[in-house]
Amino acid sequence: MSDYKMHILVCGGTGCRASQSEKIVANLQSELEFHKIEDEVKIVTTGCFGFCEKGPVIKVVPDNTFYTEVKLSDAKDIVNEHIIKGRPLKRLLYKNPKNDYAVTSTSNIEFYKKQVRIALRNCGFINPENIDEYIARDGYAALGTTLTEMTPEEAIKIIKDSGLRGRGGGGFPTGLKWEITRNVQNDVKYVVCNADEGDPGAFMDRSILEGDPHSVIEAMAICGYCIGASNGLVYIRAEYPLAITRLKVAIDQAREYGLLGDDIMGTGFNFDITIRYGAGAFVCGEETALIHSMEGLRGEPTFKPPFPSVSGYLGKPTNVNNVETFANVPVIINKGAEWFSSIGTEKSRGTKVFALAGKVNNVGLIEVPMGITLREVIFDIGGGIRNGRKFKAVQTGGPSGGCLTEKDLDMPIDYDNLIAAGSMMGSGGMIVLDEDDCMVSIAKFYLEFTLDESCGKCTPCRIGNKRLFEILEKITQGNGVPEDLNRLRILANVIKDTSLCGLGQTSPNPVLSTLDNFYHEYEAHVNDGKCPAGQCKALLRYQIQAEMCTGCTLCFRNCPVGAITGERKAPHHINQALCIKCGICHDKCKFKAISIV
Ligand SMILES: Cc1cc2nc3c(=O)[nH]c(=O)nc-3n(C[C@H](O)[C@H](O)[C@H](O)COP(=O)(O)O)c2cc1C
Ligand code: SF4
Ligand code: SF4
Ligand code: SF4
Ligand code: FES
Repeated sequence: MSDYKMHILVCGGTGCRASQSEKIVANLQSELEFHKIEDEVKIVTTGCFGFCEKGPVIKVVPDNTFYTEVKLSDAKDIVNEHIIKGRPLKRLLYKNPKNDYAVTSTSNIEFYKKQVRIALRNCGFINPENIDEYIARDGYAALGTTLTEMTPEEAIKIIKDSGLRGRGGGGFPTGLKWEITRNVQNDVKYVVCNADEGDPGAFMDRSILEGDPHSVIEAMAICGYCIGASNGLVYIRAEYPLAITRLKVAIDQAREYGLLGDDIMGTGFNFDITIRYGAGAFVCGEETALIHSMEGLRGEPTFKPPFPSVSGYLGKPTNVNNVETFANVPVIINKGAEWFSSIGTEKSRGTKVFALAGKVNNVGLIEVPMGITLREVIFDIGGGIRNGRKFKAVQTGGPSGGCLTEKDLDMPIDYDNLIAAGSMMGSGGMIVLDEDDCMVSIAKFYLEFTLDESCGKCTPCRIGNKRLFEILEKITQGNGVPEDLNRLRILANVIKDTSLCGLGQTSPNPVLSTLDNFYHEYEAHVNDGKCPAGQCKALLRYQIQAEMCTGCTLCFRNCPVGAITGERKAPHHINQALCIKCGICHDKCKFKAISIV
């Protein structure tokens, strides 16, 4: 990077690419060439900066000016005004919504202030397709140190002492898993990176692979050395094409540099990585199902024990870790266990990456120290609830998790606190809900997902979840009876206790946690035939208030099923038997004469 006077970092993450960031790069390049300064200013396409809500985003270095919502046409001004004349473009700076002041640097933006980036350290800083840029930020130094200065036991001790726990959902201590796999005697062992990431709304692992694939490759090689494996496999879903492309490029470059393959760094250690593609089934993220899928068998879980550490891929000892877990490893080796364990809480060390989504102002990818509160995440980093609505709940842990409410907002986030509060960390999906969300429908949404994704191998999950779903459907259709609420709870607990794998064991969690926290909403549906959030269509009734109706006929002309009658300049009327509750009349009426009851 040193030959260039300036760098323009352009986000090349999936979100910003969808808003044409590749074309912005092309426009910037032609402007630089037009002014003949392409040898002085370098454009770097990076991974996700995290602030996807404001994409496409650009950072100009060394002055660290951060531009948001950049358009194709802005390339000319960025080069002419900022790069050539040294005048940052005010109109592209992020504006603090509280006071409308323009903020120049990311360090002054609320979204970034409380974040600590370890797993995401290189995302948004380097070109993931250039190994030299990774090396320039201490890349492969940890592998070098491990191979040349440490025994496998010493390296494992560092990971154990750091307190790193698996980021794939279970939170199992990573160093301990490595030690168990190391202690199983076998000539052939495997390192597997779980990059399946099938939770709805989650994009943490994909973003790490898109923005910093070498950190995962380096960590897998370190793991291979520690457990005594020469083969690594990355299991990634085929619907992540950008992550796959960048991973492939990175693997080729690492081989070219002698960082993968035989006799790595002249130490006699051999390790290489192959990619395996998943077809996009949530259950294949479960480690035994993942292994069967890689073996060419049906992607169905099997009972544990034996755990993969003892008998995994092709019956050999296999260490399975999540992408984010691996991304932490090189930094821990470089900076030491003490440094890492100084971040976070007593039982949950380090940071966690979350995909913050839903009804929050700043949707994006965030990395926060364990122990931060939900309030800080949602209201400081996330900028609060959209459109001034009221916070209602936040779903953590995706379809396996539960919802947390106002009472949990000041609870420090860590593995154990989330479980105690009736949810779980999961892999890092965090979906914020507001007063307009119906909690019965939310529970139904997640259950429908797990029902679709159930592999069908065991009865409680295959049939039980179907029955659970049918009860929820009945309630949201307005046909629920009070006894259904008890039935839901009993059946949910049976499914939890008797399913074979984690999918079934956790699938009723959204139902149970909404029953615990929002019982009154269930009661309103079954006892009063009302959906308090006004979401369950079958329970809504559109009514024209005669005294407010001017007889303008707008609703009459727009109703798709002819359910509205009335003469011009006279009050209109809705035939409830014909109304399909589409809401068009309500949206069209300029006189607020149509109410929802
Ligand atoms: C239904 C189900 C889906 C899962 N999906 C993933 C996934 O997409 N990625 C992942 O890393 N772990 C997933 N897991 C957890 C894995 O089984 C396993 O615990 C994890 O990959 C271990 O890595 P870690 O110790 O680094 O977290 C899933 C578990 C279940 C039950
Ligand atoms: S719990 Fe569900 S996903 Fe897991 S094995 Fe049983 S049927 Fe398959
Ligand atoms: S649009 Fe409103 S004011 Fe006009 S006829 Fe319909 S209900 Fe009455
Ligand atoms: S809600 Fe839709 S179907 Fe019902 S009266 Fe209004 S426009 Fe017609
Ligand atoms: S994809 Fe560009 S900021 Fe996330």
